[in-house]
Amino acid sequence: MDSISPSDAEAALAQSARRVLPAGSFGNFAPEVILREGKGGRVRDVAGREYVDYLLGSGPMFIGHGHPEVLAAVQAQLPLGTTFFATSEPGIRLAEVLVEALPCAEQVRYVSSGSEADRYALRVARAFRKRDRILKFEGGYHGMSDWGLMSLAPKQLANFPVAVPDSAGIPKSVRDEVLVAPFNDLKTARSLIAEHHDELGGIILEPFQRLIPPAPGFLQGMRELATQYGIPLIFDEVVTGFRFCYGGAQNYYGVTPDLCTLGKIIGGGFPLAAIAGRADLMAHFDCEIVGDDGFLMQVGTLSGNPIASVAGLATLEVLRRPGAYDGVFAMGRRLMAEMEGLLRRHGVPGCAIGEPPLFDIVFSDEAPRDYRGMLRADAAVQKHVNAVLRKHGILKGDSKYYLSTAHDARDEAQTLEAFDAALKSLPRG
Ligand SMILES: Cc1ncc(COP(=O)(O)O)c(C=O)c1O
Repeated sequence: MDSISPSDAEAALAQSARRVLPAGSFGNFAPEVILREGKGGRVRDVAGREYVDYLLGSGPMFIGHGHPEVLAAVQAQLPLGTTFFATSEPGIRLAEVLVEALPCAEQVRYVSSGSEADRYALRVARAFRKRDRILKFEGGYHGMSDWGLMSLAPKQLANFPVAVPDSAGIPKSVRDEVLVAPFNDLKTARSLIAEHHDELGGIILEPFQRLIPPAPGFLQGMRELATQYGIPLIFDEVVTGFRFCYGGAQNYYGVTPDLCTLGKIIGGGFPLAAIAGRADLMAHFDCEIVGDDGFLMQVGTLSGNPIASVAGLATLEVLRRPGAYDGVFAMGRRLMAEMEGLLRRHGVPGCAIGEPPLFDIVFSDEAPRDYRGMLRADAAVQKHVNAVLRKHGILKGDSKYYLSTAHDARDEAQTLEAFDAALKSLPRG
């Protein structure tokens, strides 16, 4: 009897996916990519193709897939229990580590996804300030809540501070609850806050917005404005937490928010996210302190899950070691410089933006400073390059190389060869 070939098995799975999943996928990534396994800095799909993995599960797998210390911690916890709902030791230990590592964190509340963490952080700020409106920055990603989806990736641009919903199904009223400012533009933020401070419950931002580093003085200026008007400042550190250094972007850039949200790396590849911050803000989760009027109800079946907590603890232990970030920074710096060299050699306009552990090439003459600057990049070239990279065994998201500490010289060489081939394949003229 003929055995079914791997590519036939892949086609059959894709067909099933189209039948039982809307758009044939989990909604996150290209439906034609169906992965089976990951090891270190590489993944393999169900047809057996191997990729250098810069998707990295959208960021959590920062120390690589199947890290032996994470696997050992998870295997030790599995027979002890996989979820309790009640408080358990691994989550207490992880909270201690987070409080120790993050300048803003006096206390921690767990949830299961970054979207949830952002939604609750906004609610904490509103409960504290007793005001409803939120200031966010255009292009800033704060999960999939109604508020998070305001001006995340607007196709039609509005005049600041008008918010644009990026999804169907969001009540019209949410638009009035969100004010939008351009990232890295302290002057506009200052005048919006001066005008609206009395209505604002909180300010939320990604300290490193998608790929765009903060301009010198921007985060410090936002800190000063928030302090001046007594508005809680929230750093969304779901991506940046423990990625650029041990701790968060608040350590890396030296600006401390009032609250931050965390996800991805702190769960070691399992569903875990958190809100962390100043004790007087976190007190809104404690009815005994704030009373019924100030109490913020927050319950989640899997919150503080012990498997995710031990995986997070093991990951952070690896990252706490001296020199843990040296290799990923060195490789990222080399890739950014070499790719810019290849762009020049091929006469293709573009530049590398980001920080070495998380960057991409934008196909534009100038490094963007905000969402509108990103829109000026050539999206068609980006798409073409990503497609050729994939054919050469490089898997990345539409607009990010997520590096891991597990990537090695072989991955780096393959990436540069593939990038060279992608630029070569661009239509001339
Ligand atoms: C900055 C930022 N915040 C929040 C989220 C939402 O996290 P999750 O996908 O876990 O809901 C993401 C997801 O990528 C993110 O990049």
